[in-house]
Amino acid sequence: MSRPRTSSVCELGVLPILLLSWIVVLFSFAPPAEAQLQVGYYKYTCPSAERLIRTIVLASIRRDPGNGPGLVRLFFHDCFVRGCDASVLLDTAPGSNETSVEKASQANTPSLRGFGVIDRAKRVLERRCRGTVSCADIVALAARDATGIMGGVHFAMPSGRRDGRASNISDVLNSLPPPFANASMLVGSFAAKNLTADDMVTLSGAHSFGRSHCSTFSFRLYPQIAADMNATYGRFLRQRCPAATGRRDRVVDLDPKTELLLDNQYYKNVQTREVLFPSDVTLLSQNDTAALVELYATNRTAWKVRFAEAMVKMGNLDVLTGDQGEIRRFCNRVN
Ligand code: HEM
Ligand SMILES: *[C@@H]1O[C@H](CO)[C@@H](O)[C@H](O)[C@H]1NC(C)=O
Ligand SMILES: *[C@@H]1O[C@H](CO)[C@@H](O)[C@H](O)[C@H]1NC(C)=O
Ligand SMILES: *[C@@H]1O[C@H](CO)[C@@H](O)[C@H](O)[C@H]1NC(C)=O
Ligand SMILES: *[C@@H]1O[C@H](CO)[C@@H](O)[C@H](O)[C@H]1NC(C)=O
Ligand SMILES: *[C@@H]1O[C@H](CO)[C@@H](O)[C@H](O)[C@H]1NC(C)=O
Ligand SMILES: *[C@@H]1O[C@H](CO)[C@@H](O)[C@H](O)[C@H]1NC(C)=O
Ligand SMILES: *[C@@H]1O[C@H](CO)[C@@H](O)[C@H](O)[C@H]1NC(C)=O
Repeated sequence: MSRPRTSSVCELGVLPILLLSWIVVLFSFAPPAEAQLQVGYYKYTCPSAERLIRTIVLASIRRDPGNGPGLVRLFFHDCFVRGCDASVLLDTAPGSNETSVEKASQANTPSLRGFGVIDRAKRVLERRCRGTVSCADIVALAARDATGIMGGVHFAMPSGRRDGRASNISDVLNSLPPPFANASMLVGSFAAKNLTADDMVTLSGAHSFGRSHCSTFSFRLYPQIAADMNATYGRFLRQRCPAATGRRDRVVDLDPKTELLLDNQYYKNVQTREVLFPSDVTLLSQNDTAALVELYATNRTAWKVRFAEAMVKMGNLDVLTGDQGEIRRFCNRVN
């Protein structure tokens, strides 16, 4: 695991964050175009919030490293569907029930994980600063922390999001791109969220850790290994994902090379076609996305910098601020 290495990177990470908060302070005199999130939003109302969240995320990753990728994906699935409003966390909502909320979608169940980490953080924060820290911010800050802990990518995540009161399963498949998407579908689904093709390629780097269920991509293994999959890798995957699955839907690592590290290995895997989904290998099918894959495969720093920026950008999607929404007491239900 990456623990010893990242803890030293962590100390170095403090300086840029301090500088960044200064830049934010200096520029905050300009009137914001719309309701804006802020770095250090809880500085006065709940000073220990970010530290507590990080401690809980770190402990959860030590217990089960799968929580890291789980939390990063949770943030993506929250933000793309109805904005970063923690709608993905709801078990029921007004007018919805267990079968009609986002969580019940095939894109989310059974594969999303990390809910327990968010609930634990919420419990601690409610004890410390009741009714102050939103679940949507916990999701965003936890994803940021998981990125730092398992990727050594450190950045300031603005907060001040509020929690939504709705969650609708029909929004999910309209908003999230499917794993069989080609490049133009991916670009289109990110453009619908005001994210660029570059952001899409950059954020896809999250597929350098975590796992997938076999059922999600087994159509690329049987009856024959897909032409755009590395044949050696395909044969390896066939052993992990037998054609006759039985009851159990097994899981495999998204990144066969460095499964516990969030890094630029993903882009090298794309180039050797050792990736699970059509949505990964399709990045080679357009000149612009293929060029970025090449840049990131060869320059880890360039990817890290852009990944941090793109995570912050994604964290701004359709956020509720001010007196919109609410601060939930329990993340899995509205107040
Ligand atoms: C570009 C379009 C994307 C598609 C089509 C896609 C699709 C998928 C699929 C199908 C899985 C596996 C689910 C399963 O069967 O268990 C997965 C896993 C994952 N995705 Fe994506 N994804 C995309 C973009 C993103 C983005 C933008 C992020 C975050 C920045 C992300 C982060 C992850 C992570 C971390 C996992 C592993 C989750 C875990 O281990 O629990 N993905 N993705
Ligand atoms: C969910 O969305 C669908 C399709 O837009 C709509 O028909 C339905 O009324 C919505 N459900 C709730 C509870 O808002
Ligand atoms: C859950 O909500 C959906 C949509 O609102 C409805 O069609 C369905 O009957 C409800 N199911 C249960 C078990 O109440
Ligand atoms: C991508 O998929 C869409 C929808 O299936 C299709 O209309 C389009 O032609 C495809 N684009 C390419 C370049 O294959
Ligand atoms: C994208 O930008 C347009 C124009 O600035 C805005 O109207 C729209 O609400 C934005 N969409 C999202 C999802 O942020
Ligand atoms: C398949 O993967 C192997 C091992 O990484 C690599 O050497 C080879 O070049 C890959 N083949 C293709 C067609 O990319
Ligand atoms: C993509 O690159 C190829 C090879 O460099 C070139 O022939 C082609 O014209 C480019 N296509 C576009 C759309 O730029
Ligand atoms: C890699 O990217 C970083 C950040 O964009 C840049 O400063 C550096 O010069 C690049 N390194 C190489 C070898 O191109």
